Amino acid sequence: MASQATATFDFTGANVFVFGGTSGINLGIAECFAGAGATLAVASRKPDKVDAAVERLSADRPAHGYALDVRDADAVAAALADFHGHAGDIDVLISGAAGNFPAPATGMSPNAFKAVVDIDLLGTFNVLRAGFEYLKKPGASVINISAPQASVAMALQSHVCAAKAGVELLTQSLAIEWGPDGVRVNAVIPGPIDGTEGMARLAPTEAARRAVIDSVPLRRYGAADEIGQACLWLSSDAAAYVNGALLPVDGGWLAAGVRVPMG
Ligand code: COA
Ligand code: NAP
Repeated sequence: MASQATATFDFTGANVFVFGGTSGINLGIAECFAGAGATLAVASRKPDKVDAAVERLSADRPAHGYALDVRDADAVAAALADFHGHAGDIDVLISGAAGNFPAPATGMSPNAFKAVVDIDLLGTFNVLRAGFEYLKKPGASVINISAPQASVAMALQSHVCAAKAGVELLTQSLAIEWGPDGVRVNAVIPGPIDGTEGMARLAPTEAARRAVIDSVPLRRYGAADEIGQACLWLSSDAAAYVNGALLPVDGGWLAAGVRVPMG
């Protein structure tokens, strides 16, 4: 069964910005930090999703929301500057916006491939490049949300594999560049997470879902809260020496080779 752990980390007074934090895994992460006492900012394209997320995250203290596309570097920079102006230095910066659709390379236009690479990889660069100026130094934690496709080739996922592989090496490159400033840069690699858009697209039928479950050593989907708990730990003093890590939180899926029934 899924973990029933409650937050044991105290982020009272911390400022946390989650890009792509308005639904699914990233909203689950944002909720974990809000529950641990942090002031949240979230950003994504759709204003209605931003408004709904801000309302959910504002139970204890007001959250901030920005409707933007992470492919727009100026909009990303403006949102970070605005949040910094309201709240102060950013303790935790999370880049999780992503796009995915299953398609063979020959069934994908160059613009379709580019759309995913631009959201996942260029978007993460935009978030981190603009965010650096506003991070608490020393002490900030940067987390990129990767995927098993970064290191396991998958049919119908060439765009995502290329994009997320880039995200993982970007993570480690910036861990090297920013370590001397006391900024840690890590990635979390979720396994199949229940109730998410990502798994609805990759395993849309009950048979596909069953096959995924059978391929996970723990024999279940994960919960968004379990990714959030990992991010809390990774951003806490308990993980003060963890930098440049690519952390699977996936029930052993990567270790077992990751199989999604797509060919
Ligand atoms: N198969 C092949 N090509 C596809 C496709 C599919 N299923 N879906 C979209 N495309 C193509 C489009 O045709 C377009 O190419 P074209 O201009 O040559 O026609 C290109 O991808 C961009 O599509 P568009 O809808 O303009 O892009 P967008 O920026 O509005 O949306 C996506 C980006 C396509 C990634 C969209 O699926 C999305 O917004 N996803 C976010 C949610 C998500 O994927 N969540 C799961 C995260 S793991
Ligand atoms: P999701 O709910 O669709 O989350 C994606 C988020 O990014 C949404 O808030 C979306 O909101 C936003 N977004 C998409 N394109 C954007 C853009 N161009 N600019 C700004 N924001 C954008 O999907 P999810 O399945 O929870 O995935 C979340 C993350 O986990 C992704 O990085 C994904 O690769 C990773 N992951 C997921 C799984 C899984 O099991 N689902 C497994 C491994 C890794 P808008 O539509 O409002 O823009």
